[in-house]
Amino acid sequence: MAEDIAVDPDYYALNEGYGPEDFNSETTSIASAISKGRIENGRRYQAMKEDDYWSPADEQQFESLENGHILCLVLDHQQKDPLHRAPIKNPKVHILDIGTGRGSWAIDMADYYPSATVRGVDIFPPPVSWMPPNCVFEVDDILREWTWREPFDYIHLRILLGAFDDAGWSLAYDRCYKGLNPGGWIEQLEFDINLQSEDGSLKPEHHLSSWGKNMIACGERAGRPLTTQKTMKSAIEKAGFVDVHEHVYKVPLGPWAKNQLLKEAGRVNYLVWTSGLEGYAMWLLTKFGAPEPWTKEEVYVFLARVRKELSDPSIHAYQYVRRVWARKPTEEELKVKRESKTPEEEIKSEK
Ligand SMILES: C[S@@+](CC[C@H](N)C(=O)[O-])C[C@H]1O[C@@H](n2cnc3c(N)ncnc32)[C@H](O)[C@@H]1O
Repeated sequence: MAEDIAVDPDYYALNEGYGPEDFNSETTSIASAISKGRIENGRRYQAMKEDDYWSPADEQQFESLENGHILCLVLDHQQKDPLHRAPIKNPKVHILDIGTGRGSWAIDMADYYPSATVRGVDIFPPPVSWMPPNCVFEVDDILREWTWREPFDYIHLRILLGAFDDAGWSLAYDRCYKGLNPGGWIEQLEFDINLQSEDGSLKPEHHLSSWGKNMIACGERAGRPLTTQKTMKSAIEKAGFVDVHEHVYKVPLGPWAKNQLLKEAGRVNYLVWTSGLEGYAMWLLTKFGAPEPWTKEEVYVFLARVRKELSDPSIHAYQYVRRVWARKPTEEELKVKRESKTPEEEIKSEK
């Protein structure tokens, strides 16, 4: 036996009873604390970030996210590519899904583009035991410095309302801009949480009528705007993206629409709401409800009333869903932009 690989005769005496877990104990306990999350009011929340995020990360909420994913597929099933609107020309693209949640979009995208690499990142590990070989999930806070070495060709964000404060959003779009290859695309889809009806069947006295306004006010008090669908387009433009496109959907709540596609969308949207309702409201109302934070019991009573209206067939409520996609300027466009800058602008953009 070569001298340098010989076993230290005192090693056993010094390390009695060690096991493989001793080497991993620190990282394992961090990982398990992250996946166990934090239980509050009977729901599990992420435990990675010190500052809270409104949505639970548990089976019930993942079911709502899955319903949301199906809803988006129903809304765009007549499109050439139902998973995205931004053009993806090269099948070897490098894709990032920010706030991947249950991971359904990332998995479907990886299946749809087998030569692409799809990364899904979230502060809570997605509850999946199988994923395509070209799909990778990572647990991280996207407001932290990005450590991915390769730039992306396409970045996707969906239902991230209330995830960040205004400064966080600017930072997030800035990161996306810097993290994309020239000519790469960003795409974001967000829901308007306000409901309305065209036939007056949703009346001002309905809880569903004031729902959006109340939740948006809670989001404001939390410092996490829930109005992202309204602000994302201009924020994306402000970050430097060009070629900005927008599509607005009107999505029924319940299967009341005559149009078959909207009827199906309404049916699925009803499931999105019923499975997600408690998760949308619990954190926001128990922490930022007015005139003072509500108790869990008060939230349950309120939700029972909202649920009754959700299944009332005489109410024909709908909500807007907005999709924005935009491009980082190409190398050529960036060169023109650089050359037309004044020295002061040049210094500012380098900072
Ligand atoms: C409402 S879910 C939407 C999930 C998914 N995009 C979808 O459409 O089904 C928002 C997700 O964003 C994640 N998230 C919130 N803040 C985040 C952050 N700072 N970094 C990474 N993910 C974050 C949450 O954990 C949650 O899973």
